[in-house]
Amino acid sequence: MASAALEVLADPAAVAERVARLLLEAALQFPGAPLGLATGRTMVPVYQHLVALIDELPSLQRQGLLQHWCSFNLDEYVGLGPADRQSFAATMASHLGAPLGLPLQQLNLPDGRAGDPAAEAARYGAAVLEAGGIGLQLLGLGSNGHVGFNEPPCAADAPCRCVQLSWATRIQNAAAFGADPAAVPEQAITLGTREILQARSVLLVVTGAEKAPILRRALQEPPCEQVPASWLQHHPQLRVIVDAGAAAALKPT
Ligand code: GLP
Repeated sequence: MASAALEVLADPAAVAERVARLLLEAALQFPGAPLGLATGRTMVPVYQHLVALIDELPSLQRQGLLQHWCSFNLDEYVGLGPADRQSFAATMASHLGAPLGLPLQQLNLPDGRAGDPAAEAARYGAAVLEAGGIGLQLLGLGSNGHVGFNEPPCAADAPCRCVQLSWATRIQNAAAFGADPAAVPEQAITLGTREILQARSVLLVVTGAEKAPILRRALQEPPCEQVPASWLQHHPQLRVIVDAGAAAALKPT
């Protein structure tokens, strides 16, 4: 990975502001290319800044942007839908949909309530392709190296599919489920490493010292199935924005 593609900023607030600007630039510059969006705690301040930036646009520009808005989220828990507070659909509706007045039809997510999750994953992957593929793909990093819900081990060309969540991930995401990992759904539908690597550009965003070791493995060790995020090293347009805490274990390049 070219060192120019790595930006280390002081703290999560600076990261969120920078990332929101890049998302807005991409949405304005390539209105026909869907944004690939992510959930997780890292993204909460990003969407706050993004909403503020969009609200500052001249009203015609804001209106045009929102009229043509098309984004696809990475993933959703199997069994949860927009009416469930912990679903990613509900998260996106409250962080982006409600403040911007965007309906969920423009903020695409896999349907976690679909009766046949495997068929829903196939439909969702096809919908991304039909929309022309992802333009800019925003990604967080799981503490076990997952991106989206591509849990280790994961090949570089895994398609959109229904996956079993690891216990580590259920622990990581338990906060939204009364701190009980067993209450976190066991399965999810996720875009695969295939769709992620097919995006025109990828923006990996990582904050916090606890992710420093996994960030180093993802960026500076040979790509492997045990660290799904490491496949991003193969992407020609990878940009990585991190705070000082997450960068702490990186070797100087
Ligand atoms: C979750 C999501 C990922 C997210 C990651 C990091 O499980 N499926 O898309 O990027 O884990 O989450 P957080 O930002 O809360 O650390």
